[in-house]
Amino acid sequence: MADKDTESARNYQVGVPARNEPFFLKGSNHLDWGLQNRLSQIFNPRSGRTVMLAFDHGYFLGPTSGLERIDLNIVPLTPYADTLMLTRGILRTSIPPTYTGGIVLRSSGGPSILKELSNEEIAISIDEAIRLNAAAMAVQVFIGGEYETKSIHNLTRLIDLGNQHGIATLGVTAVGRDMVRDANYMRLATRICAELGATYVKTYFVEQGFDTVVASCPVPIVIAGGKKLPEREALELAFNAVDQGACGVDMGRNIFQSECPLAMIQAVRKVVHENARVQEAYDYYLEIRDQQDSQSLK
Ligand code: R5P
Repeated sequence: MADKDTESARNYQVGVPARNEPFFLKGSNHLDWGLQNRLSQIFNPRSGRTVMLAFDHGYFLGPTSGLERIDLNIVPLTPYADTLMLTRGILRTSIPPTYTGGIVLRSSGGPSILKELSNEEIAISIDEAIRLNAAAMAVQVFIGGEYETKSIHNLTRLIDLGNQHGIATLGVTAVGRDMVRDANYMRLATRICAELGATYVKTYFVEQGFDTVVASCPVPIVIAGGKKLPEREALELAFNAVDQGACGVDMGRNIFQSECPLAMIQAVRKVVHENARVQEAYDYYLEIRDQQDSQSLK
C-alpha cells in the first residue's frame, strides 16, 4: 500500500522554492527550533514585541507594595501579559498551570535587601527550569559592581545549560546605586551580555542615546519599568523605548503599583503591540479605569 500512495503523489511544485523565512527576532536566526519556539512564547510573532509582567521582586525584597497577595493582585493581570517574569516559588504556589504565555524564571539570587545585592549565585537547576516549562531563565549581571565576574559567570553558566536544552537566557543588567545610568553604561552592559551569549537582554531606558544602546546590541532588548511613575509618564517611557527599537517592556511596579493595574497593563499593551501614541494609550487607561471604578460601585 505504501508504494501505491507514493506513486499517486504528484504535487511536488518543483519550480516553487522551499520556504525559508528568517525568524522574526534580531540576532536569533541561528537558534535551534526549540529555542525559537520558546522565544515565540515570550515575544508576539506578529508585533515582534513583548509585554513581560515582572513580579519577581520578592526574591530579595519580600512582600513589597502591590505584591502582598499574588493570587489576588497579579493573577487577574496574567491574561494581558505575553510573559510572566517570576520566581519558581510564586509560579508553583500562585500561578494557575493553565496559563499559556511564556514563563521567564528568575534564576539568580541570594542576598536580600539587607545585604550587598550583587553577590548573587545561580538559584535554580536546569532540571527545575525544564520541569517548570520555562521559556527563559533570567540572571542578573552587575557590570562594574563588586561581584562583576561572579555575576558574569552565573550568566555564562546558565547560557551553556540553557543552550543545551533550548531554553533562552535573559541577561538582566543591574545598575549599582553609585553608577551613572547613561547610554555609555547601558551600551557596555548590554553588549557584554550579548557577546557572552545571552539570548536577549533587559536594561533601563535612558533619555539620551537609547537608540545607540539598541543599535550596538545584536540581540533583542527589553526595558525594565523601574520605580513607580505617574501612569502617563510610564506610558511615555514604554512608547519612547519601543519607538527607539526596544522589543518590549519587562514592567513591574508601574503596572502592579498603578492605581488601576488592570487598566495599566492593557494601556501598556496598546503602546507595545499597536504603536499607540502616549495620549491615546493614556485615554485608554482612563477609560478602563473608570469602567472598573463604576463596576466596583455596583
Ligand atoms: C527586579 O527585581 C526585577 O529584575 C524586575 O523584574 C525588574 O526590575 C522589572 O521590574 P520593574 O519594572 O518594577 O523595575
